[in-house]
Amino acid sequence: MTDSSKRIATKLVDGGRRREWRGRLVNPPVERASTILFDTVAELESGRAKLGTYRYGLQGTATQWALAEALTELEPGAAGTALYSSGLAAVTAPLLTLLSAGDELLAPDNVYGPTRRFCDTFLRRYGIATRYYDPLVGSAISELIGENTRAILLESPGSQTMEVQDVPGICAVARASGIATLLDNTWATPLFFPAIAAGVDITILAATKYVGGHADVMLGAATATAEHYDRLQQSSWDLGHSVSPDDAWLGSRGLRTMAVRLRQHEESALAVAHWLKAQPQVGRVLHPALPDCPGHEHWKRDYKGSSGLFSFELKGAGKETRAKFVESLELFGIGFSWGGFESLALPVDPVRTVSTPPASNLVRLHIGLEDPADLIADLAEGLRRISG
Ligand SMILES: Cc1ncc(COP(=O)(O)O)c(C=O)c1O
Repeated sequence: MTDSSKRIATKLVDGGRRREWRGRLVNPPVERASTILFDTVAELESGRAKLGTYRYGLQGTATQWALAEALTELEPGAAGTALYSSGLAAVTAPLLTLLSAGDELLAPDNVYGPTRRFCDTFLRRYGIATRYYDPLVGSAISELIGENTRAILLESPGSQTMEVQDVPGICAVARASGIATLLDNTWATPLFFPAIAAGVDITILAATKYVGGHADVMLGAATATAEHYDRLQQSSWDLGHSVSPDDAWLGSRGLRTMAVRLRQHEESALAVAHWLKAQPQVGRVLHPALPDCPGHEHWKRDYKGSSGLFSFELKGAGKETRAKFVESLELFGIGFSWGGFESLALPVDPVRTVSTPPASNLVRLHIGLEDPADLIADLAEGLRRISG
């Protein structure tokens, strides 16, 4: 069987486990290195920085190469993957690669908060303007493209409010205009949305979430087409990005079970979302697979599944009641991030400048791998407490 004919669950198990990297072990081991020793000066002087070639710790060892290769194989049409020490770094490094002073970036108005902050502070300071757009703009993005627009950032579904974008539509417009596209695909992963095949140039994962899957590692990845990969990898090394082999190893370990974990997150999150929708204290349920969610039609057309993160509106509740509800939950931790095996709940207040959030008084849930009946019982008790 050729690598490209394998189905995705098989690729998750096989990916990166080259015989020359793992020897007789099942998994490529953790290879720690800063210095790599050369036999001769000629050998030292003749090589160049390249993934898969031992040169210096920055370029990694078989442990990092195995993860990068496995992630690349998940995206048909991709040429390679650059790894980063966080999901945020996997967003900022590609932006710094593509953009120069005087350029303009288009970014969705519901983008992940720290990404927005990077655009508004760091990029601005270097003379790069960010123009925010309504995440549901679709191919009408053509009207926003100006003389200096060099890249379009997408995030689908969007942070907190979960709008599903018309990714193929936006990417088709961008490609016709010679503009690069980057997608934060952390929610769907390539399992539910193979982004490069949909026309994206650089697809980004906060691998901290579903790739790691256990809430114990910070990791990011940017997977790119042949047109962009070499430059992206070189500029990431120029910026000094590296991932520790222990963290890369945890990423590879997480990948092996990602398909089964995601299917369970999907099933349980759908059960909880449908239950919430039927509760009188709940307004809109912003879950991409439910018709309440803006852009649901794009999810239906383009996505192969849904994961464990969604938001819902607590009807008529103020901030204090919402906090009381979140604090009353026993099985949901209160904390940032998501994508681990455990459930989380967080009050969220979207920041917007050019569009209106679809709902207010939002609670974001990450549905973990607990029994969904227990999660529903916990949420029912929480709703009872704030209704009393
Ligand atoms: C959609 C999205 N993108 C990127 C990130 C950043 O990932 P990290 O926390 O690994 O920096 C997050 C983190 O919550 C996220 O939710």
